[in-house]
Amino acid sequence: MKPWNGDVHSVYSPVCIKTAEGYKRKLIGTYPICTQEEAMSSLDAAVAAYNNGRGQWPTMSVADRIHHVEHFTKMMIAQKDIVVKLIMWEIGKSFADSIKEFDRTVEYIYATIDALKDVDRQSSRFEIEQGIIAQIRRSPLGVVLCMGPFNYPLNETFTTLIPALIMGNTIMFKPPKHGTLLFYPLLNAFKECFPKGVVNTIYGRGATIVPELMKSGKINVLTLIGSSKVANELKKLHPKVNRLRAILGLDAKNLAIVTPNADIKLAVSEIVLGSLSFNGQRCTALKIIYVHEKVVDEFLQLLSAEVSKLKYGMPWEKGVTLTPLPEPGKPAYLKECIDNAIANGAKVINEHGGESFESFVYPAIVYPVNKNMKLYREEQFGPIIPVVSYSDVDEPIEYLIESTHGQQVSIFSNDSEELSVLIDPLVNLVSRVNLNCQCQRGPDAFPFTGRKDSAEGTLSVVDALRSFSMRSLVATKMN
Ligand code: G3H
Repeated sequence: MKPWNGDVHSVYSPVCIKTAEGYKRKLIGTYPICTQEEAMSSLDAAVAAYNNGRGQWPTMSVADRIHHVEHFTKMMIAQKDIVVKLIMWEIGKSFADSIKEFDRTVEYIYATIDALKDVDRQSSRFEIEQGIIAQIRRSPLGVVLCMGPFNYPLNETFTTLIPALIMGNTIMFKPPKHGTLLFYPLLNAFKECFPKGVVNTIYGRGATIVPELMKSGKINVLTLIGSSKVANELKKLHPKVNRLRAILGLDAKNLAIVTPNADIKLAVSEIVLGSLSFNGQRCTALKIIYVHEKVVDEFLQLLSAEVSKLKYGMPWEKGVTLTPLPEPGKPAYLKECIDNAIANGAKVINEHGGESFESFVYPAIVYPVNKNMKLYREEQFGPIIPVVSYSDVDEPIEYLIESTHGQQVSIFSNDSEELSVLIDPLVNLVSRVNLNCQCQRGPDAFPFTGRKDSAEGTLSVVDALRSFSMRSLVATKMN
């Protein structure tokens, strides 16, 4: 594909540098933007490579597809240094976390290969029922449009792209707006390792080019890790939406409940990491904390002390947790949330909380949060910890019932009876309940999904293989 038509996008790092006009985001590169025609011709290439399931890739043996993906992974590993640095510069993720993102992705690919070998072994068995002998397989679905998020640009792209690919689908891949350059060192590997038209990368303004891809009706699976608003809008554009499969990881407003029986020190240390790792820019981050009124003062005091210990600085600095934010509008949005909470009776209770400098925002603990505030329902996706005090545990449960989200909950209590009473109602409201620990996606072997607007379909190493394929069978009547 030749996307170059002279139109380029300039990529600015969240890392700011001093210039004559003050601090400015550093320009770290440019990339050519696809025109609509170029995006459509990439789609035609993906459709042709799939060729109604008759293409070289969807008909290739599983062992051969695995071989191609292994080759790709080796080439990817050879580019580790540059990809890690680009993650760090493009999205401001700390160097240590950028390395972790890369390594976790490689482990995920190898785990996917192992899981597929198991699936393939099962497909080589025959089942006999009522005089019919059948080989039950997993077959691909067609063309998969794959879009990852800016916060895990490499990892969450590949947790959908690789399983979709290895199951025999062909791919239309649109990298996230913040997190595009880091895929450049991998383009050659895509080209060298997969037949023509199997992986098609399109660059540029998703809002312009992606809707037309959906309207074409040629996309069989939409996979997006991002906002539910965007996912719903895109789905509606498909002319045969009932034939579109969607595998989506979307918004979340994960909640922690700190009961009067909690180990407050443990709760605080888990909640600090759960709320502020990568500056709170994780769908799995804790985004609202309910603390029992009997322990709320102690909790807030310890929480402020722990937050003040977090190191902020440039992403390459050792031990840094708080780093610059990639989305240019985010500091203003976070300030708006804090101002709105203050106007409705809350306070920022930690020193320097909410102060910002260019793309940095120092974490704010906001208390007491109530229904009238933006922070009560909106997913801040940034370094703010909204705290609500409760007297009856039905209050956080009511919050979840009324919520449009349903990803995860953390409960902190040392009373096993109290925990066991809460588990059942909570696990029926969200998709994962964490006992005395923060919310998170991993380990990647565990199912990752959500209720309501938080997800559609399930991911995990094995679930992803199922999500991007269907069960089919070859059956013969025995005489
Ligand atoms: O942003 C959403 C990610 O799925 C979070 O993953 O819990 O491993 O940081 P994580």
